[in-house]
Amino acid sequence: MDRFVIRGGRPLRGEVGIAASKNAALPAMAAAMLTAEAVRLDGVPGYKDVRTMARILRHLGARVDETEASLEIHAADPGNHEAPYDLVRTMRASFFVLGPVLARLGRARVAFPGGCAIGVRPVDEHLKGLAALGATIVVSEGYVEATADRLRGAAIAFGTPSVGATENVMMAACLAEGTTVMSNAAREPEVVDLAELLIRMGARITGAGTGTVTIEGVKALGGATHPTVPDRIEAGTFIVLSVLTGCGIAVRGARRDHLQALESALRQAGVAMDERDGALVVSCEGRWRASDAVTQPYPGFATDLQAQWMVLMALANGSSVVRETVFENRFQHVPELVRLGADIAIRGNTAVIRGVSRLSGAPVMVSDLRAGAALVLAGLAAAGTTEVQRIYHLDRGYDRLIEKLRGVGAEIERVPGPPV
Ligand code: EPZ
Repeated sequence: MDRFVIRGGRPLRGEVGIAASKNAALPAMAAAMLTAEAVRLDGVPGYKDVRTMARILRHLGARVDETEASLEIHAADPGNHEAPYDLVRTMRASFFVLGPVLARLGRARVAFPGGCAIGVRPVDEHLKGLAALGATIVVSEGYVEATADRLRGAAIAFGTPSVGATENVMMAACLAEGTTVMSNAAREPEVVDLAELLIRMGARITGAGTGTVTIEGVKALGGATHPTVPDRIEAGTFIVLSVLTGCGIAVRGARRDHLQALESALRQAGVAMDERDGALVVSCEGRWRASDAVTQPYPGFATDLQAQWMVLMALANGSSVVRETVFENRFQHVPELVRLGADIAIRGNTAVIRGVSRLSGAPVMVSDLRAGAALVLAGLAAAGTTEVQRIYHLDRGYDRLIEKLRGVGAEIERVPGPPV
């Protein structure tokens, strides 16, 4: 397993470009199963999760061409309706194929996605929504089997504004007969981006980005070319890194309007975010203040930025509280930050952070994608050498991370580790 070796504690300066969103690209790839025509997603990098989703779509009978600049998926005649466990277990987002394959073929069999480091991550909202559209759902032997002669539009009220359930059900509803109204739907920009792709494919969707989404079913969808939305979590990660290392990093290609919760939290901490010739920059007047954060569904503070924010608070002036309300186990980066000298105590889903003046390098271990990002940030801010192990998690959702960090002056190298 490869690891990063980081020599931190030095100011970073320069510009980073933000890639297309991993969490928009994955459902968009699944959406291509809804049509017999080709769907092209521009600017999607070769995230490991994208390559995994490509394998799943090929297994379902789609042709997937991955080039440097784009991804083309053509499910002209998918012969298979089953996504097997050995593929689904490596990436939960594989579950997004359930709705589209069911809507296109009238049946779908997808392995139950396991939980992961950050929580149990049930799929009850996905299944409730598809059942409301008239699907017969059978769960057995670790698989979900959904069948329906014809899906029918329905009124669906989600118990929780689940991003994945909103996306899965929205995709299926596009080919249902009649109107579907989803209430308490997720409002994330990635949901909006998926709706925009589906509309380009001929779907009739209104309200995406609000809590109530209305879909008028159509008989068939066509192909499309779609520029996937920039990754707000990658952007937020680099913005926090900039504050940590002297405010010298310009973040190009991000959507500032997708970062409002982060911007206001930074403002509370005494850090102004601004735009300078089209790139996002932050200004540091001395040490930033401690500022509480509570993760919420969008437009609240993103759970995927909670770990990164905690690094900032670990070096802030004063004490702060971070509350994680979206996932039940998303503090696994905390003991690793404590190894670097952070002063953090956990009580249930609440972390109390007392700012310290410096962190010191040490070996740390990554548990999940965003915890890994936080540990890289902490290593770059810490004095001395930090070795970050199990960085395969990072390959899933950060594109060319080493190149981008070196591009702003980071001393970081990837050291191949012994095979697992
Ligand atoms: C998406 O996961 C993202 N992944 C996650 O990003 C992100 O953290 C999450 O949304 C929340 O923003 C992708 O888009 C591929 P949810 P998803 O369904 O859809 C509960 C990353 O690091 N829930 O909104 O799985 C669930 O347990 C990843 O890029 C149910 O109870 O998230 C959780 O507590 C990590 N029943 C909460 O809702 C369900 O049927 C939010 O989950 C579904 C979810």
